[in-house]
Amino acid sequence: MTKQILMIVEDDLSIRKQMKWALAADYEIITVGGRKEALDAAVKGAQVVTLDLGLPPDADGAGEGLLCLKELLRIDPYLKVIIITGNTDKANAHEGISSGAYDYMSKPVDMDELRIVLKRAFHVAEIERENKELKGKAGIDAVFEDILGTSSSMQDIFSLITKVAPTDVPVLITGESGTGKELVARAIHRRSSRKDEPFIAINCGAIPENLLESELFGHEKGAFTGAHALKLGKVELANKGTIFFDEVGELPLQLQVKLLRFLQEQEIERIGGKKTIKVDVRVLAATNRDLEQCIAEGSFREDMYYRLSLIHTKIPPLRERKDDVILCAMAFLQRFAKEHGKSFKGFTTAAVDAIGGYRWPGNVRELENRIKRAVIMAEGKRITDKDLLISLGGDEEVNTDEIVTLKDNREVAEKEFIGRALLRHSGNISRTATELSVSRPTLYDLMKKHGLGSME
Ligand SMILES: Nc1ncnc2c1ncn2[C@@H]1O[C@H](COP(=O)(O)OP(=O)(O)OP(=O)(O)O)[C@@H](O)[C@H]1O
Ligand SMILES: [Mg+2]
Repeated sequence: MTKQILMIVEDDLSIRKQMKWALAADYEIITVGGRKEALDAAVKGAQVVTLDLGLPPDADGAGEGLLCLKELLRIDPYLKVIIITGNTDKANAHEGISSGAYDYMSKPVDMDELRIVLKRAFHVAEIERENKELKGKAGIDAVFEDILGTSSSMQDIFSLITKVAPTDVPVLITGESGTGKELVARAIHRRSSRKDEPFIAINCGAIPENLLESELFGHEKGAFTGAHALKLGKVELANKGTIFFDEVGELPLQLQVKLLRFLQEQEIERIGGKKTIKVDVRVLAATNRDLEQCIAEGSFREDMYYRLSLIHTKIPPLRERKDDVILCAMAFLQRFAKEHGKSFKGFTTAAVDAIGGYRWPGNVRELENRIKRAVIMAEGKRITDKDLLISLGGDEEVNTDEIVTLKDNREVAEKEFIGRALLRHSGNISRTATELSVSRPTLYDLMKKHGLGSME
C-alpha cells in the first residue's frame, strides 16, 4: 500500500529530523525549511502539512508562516494544515485557524498527540477527496459567490447556478422578500460568458405603468410629447449582457404581450420607431408572487410564464433553513463588527434562542439589518436579544418538520446544539470545542457532518 504523504515545514533542523524520525513509519515524509520550498513541494501530493509559523526571514514572528498557510491553501484548498506554534502566541494560531488551517498545536509538540491529530487530518482529507470525486466538488460550500448557505436547499441552488450560468436559458427565481433573489440573479450573470457585459436590473413594480414601456424599450425623438431626444430602453442597454426583470409579477398585461415578442424573437421596437432592432440578451426574472395563481386570476399570461420559467428555482424562506440562519448571523456579525471597528465574543444564549426561534418574515435582509443595528447599539461583549430587538411571543415555532425516527431526532438535536454553541462563540472553534467538551478535530468532523462549515 502506498503511504500517505505528509509535508513538514520547519526551519529548525533538529526538530525536523526528530519529527521525521518519529513519523516515518506511518507516512511518506517531505521536509522543507521555508515558505518557497513548501510552495514548490505543494505539488507533490501531500494531503496534510505541519507548518511551523516562525519561518525565516521572520523566525521570531508569524508573518511568514501565515503567508505560507494562505499560499498553500490557495494552491490546494483541501490541504489540511496543522499549525505548530510557540506556546505564547495563541493569537497567531487563531488567525491561522480563521484563515483555513485545520488545527494547531503548541511547541514542544507532544508526538502522541500529533499522531492522533495527523490521523484525523488524513482521515478528513480522504473523506473530502472521496466526496469531491463523487460530487465533482469537495464538501459543502458555505459561500458561493457572495451567497451564504450550507442548507441542502441552498446547496441545490448553488449547483443550479453552476449549471445554468453558461447557458442562455431564462431562469425564474421565486421566493419571499429578502431571500436573495437578486443575489442569485447576479451570481448567474457573473458566472456566464456575458459577465463583462452589462447586468441591467429593472424593477417592474416600482415604475409607473405609463413609463414602463419607454423604460423597457426606449423611444425615438418626438415619439410623444416630452420625448425630446432618443432614449434607449433597458433591454437595448442590456445588449450582449443580462436583463433582470425584478417583480415580474407586477408587469401590466398589455406590456407582457410586447415583452413576449422580445422573449421569443430577441427583437424590440422603440416607441415611435419604425424599425425592428435585433438584440442578444439573456433574461432572468424574479417575483415573490405565486405566478400560477396570477395566471388563474388572469393577471399573468401563461405563455409568458412558460417562456420565463424554463428553469425555475425557489429560494425557501430563511426560517426553513435553520443552518443558514446560524451561518448568516455569524458572518454578518463578523462583517459589521469589522466595518464598525468593534469586536464581540459572539451572541448571548438568549440571543441565540431568539435568532433560532424567530420567524424572520423579512428573511436574510431582515437578519442583516437587525445584526447591523445590534452591532452599532450593543454595549456589551456579546450581542443580546435586546440588541436584536427580538422578543419571542408564545407562538414561535420550533422546527420539527420531518423528524421521524429517534436517530433523526438525535441528529437534528446534535446539529442544532453544535450550531448554537458556534453561534454563541461567533464561530470560534477552540472556545466552542471547550464548551462542548470535545477536541477541536472532533468538532471539525461534527461541523463537516452537519454542514456547519467554516465561513472563511
Ligand atoms: N444567502 C445569502 N447570503 C448573504 N446575504 C444574503 C443572502 N440572501 C440575501 N442576502 C442579503 O439580503 C439582502 C436581500 O437580498 P436580495 O435583494 O437579493 O433579496 P430579494 O429576494 O431580491 O428581495 P426582494 O424580494 O425584497 O427584492 C441583500 O443585502 C443580500 O445581500
Ligand atoms: Mg429583489
